This record gives sequence, C-alpha cells and structure tokens, in this order.
Amino acid sequence: MSTQRFQGKIAFVTGGNSGIGLAAAQGFAKEGARVAIAGRDLETLKQAKASLGANAIAVQADVSKLADIDRAIAQVKKDAGRIDALFVNAGVAHFAPIEASDEAFFDNQFTTNVKGAYFTIQKALPLMPKGSAIVINASSVVNMGMPNSSVYTATKAAIASLARSLAQELAPRGIRLNIVNPGPIETPIFGRMGLPAETTQAMAGQILSQVPLQRFGSPEDVARAVLFLSSDEAAYIHGASLGVDGGMSSL
Ligand SMILES: NC(=O)c1ccc[n+]([C@@H]2O[C@H](COP(=O)([O-])OP(=O)(O)OC[C@H]3O[C@@H](n4cnc5c(N)ncnc54)[C@H](OP(=O)(O)O)[C@@H]3O)[C@@H](O)[C@H]2O)c1
Repeated sequence: MSTQRFQGKIAFVTGGNSGIGLAAAQGFAKEGARVAIAGRDLETLKQAKASLGANAIAVQADVSKLADIDRAIAQVKKDAGRIDALFVNAGVAHFAPIEASDEAFFDNQFTTNVKGAYFTIQKALPLMPKGSAIVINASSVVNMGMPNSSVYTATKAAIASLARSLAQELAPRGIRLNIVNPGPIETPIFGRMGLPAETTQAMAGQILSQVPLQRFGSPEDVARAVLFLSSDEAAYIHGASLGVDGGMSSL
C-alpha cells in the first residue's frame, strides 16, 4: 500500500486539469486526500475529475477573474468545508521577443500568474486551518535569464517575492508556505507558448543542454516535491524554494 500522508485531508489545486497540477492532484488523491481542482477547459476538467476518485470536486474557473476565484472557493467550502493543502499552480507562459509583445501579452501573463495566484491565496485563507500548507509553483527561471521570456520570468519573480513576504505574514497563523521552482517539465505548456513549432523545438534543445541531469522532468517529478512540502514531513520547512530542475539553475 502506498503511503497515505493526506488521509482525511482536503487539497485544492488550481490548474489541476493539466500537466504539473494534474499530476499533483492525482498524487494527493492517491495518498488519501479529497481533491478539488480548478481550471478553464471543461473537457480536461471532466477527464481530470474522473481520475481523482468519486468525491473529487472540479470547478470551471478563470483565476484571472476574481469572481471566478470566489465561486471556486465557495464550491470547495460548500462541498469540503476547508483546505489543508493549497497548490497555487495555474499559470500561462507566452514567449516572444520584446518587439513582438504588446499590452495584452503582458497583462494576460501578469493577471493569471501574479494577480490570479495572489487572490487565490487571499480567498482560500479563510478555509485554511492551523497546520495547513500552501505551495506556490514559480519556476527555476526566477534564478536565470532566458531569451524571449522576460514577461513570463518577471511574473514568476513577482510571485516568488510575494511568497516570501506572505510566508512571514502567515507564520503566526501556523500556515506554512513554500515554493517549487520547476525546470523544464514535459507538459502541454510548451505547445501553448505562441511560438512556431520549430522555434519551440530549438528552444527545448537549448534548454536541455543546460540541464546537468540531461533530461526534461516529468510532471510527477514536481508533484512529488509538492506533496512533500504539503505534508507533515515538511512541518519545519517554511519559506523555502525547492528547485526541481535537474540542477539547471543551481549548478
Ligand atoms: N512545464 C514547465 O516546464 C514549467 C516550468 C516551470 C514552471 N511551470 C509552471 O507550472 C505551472 C503549470 O504549468 P504546466 O507546465 O503544468 O502547464 P499546462 O499543462 O499548460 O497547465 C497549466 C494549467 O494552468 C491552468 N490555467 C492557465 N491559465 C488559467 C487561468 N486563467 N485560470 C485557471 N486556470 C488556468 C490550465 O488550465 P486550462 O487548460 O483549463 O486553461 C492548466 O491546468 C505554471 O504555473 C507554469 O508556469 C512549468
């Protein structure tokens, strides 16, 4: 039998219908949690929900819209009553050279990755008891530079900074907050960057050449770190940034 670190717990994962968020949601469910997910795409939400057990909760919500976050949190409150593990994961990555970006390109990434993450935490907090934990999905890019990604990397640096201050603010309430910084992880995000397929392919090769472990990570590689940081095994880990990047940003 697998370990059951989340038996009797409630986990809420934004962007739990794809990639890293889906792997984390499935990990939480496998270890006994009742899992709630939020995302925009109805079809993948439905598929994800079906993989998360009979009592899973799935809410269609766009985290860039505060009314949608309110609705998602209200649903979790109604169905599950509280949140023990919050994985703030929903995010978009659009890459372009500075000359090719515009206001919508900039705003879309900041409203999703920063505003969405911030208000997800604000609105989830009333459901989070002492002993609960938050993990924020930033990126190894917060410690690096990468061409064509300056707006995306800025959103991730912003959320990482926000996380450190929030960790200070939440400590007296007994709520832990940590960050995962994934390196290149094989998920649908690369196909959604808005770059031509050949450019994405070339970029992936260039990124791979910087990874000491010489492979892309899997969503499960990150999910395992998220589950650890969310569990009581990490009871004294607070305000940490854990790289899950094959050594890319630290070596
Ligand atoms: N893959 C990597 O190499 C990598 C590296 C570092 C960090 N990350 C971070 O990991 C997180 C997850 O990305 P992923 O790689 O798993 O990519 P993904 O498969 O594209 O997943 C992104 C998830 O975020 C959700 N999402 C995006 N915008 C949203 C919005 N406005 N409202 C609600 N949900 C929204 C998506 O839901 P819909 O499909 O329904 O829109 C999807 O579930 C992101 O924050 C990303 O920046 C990824």
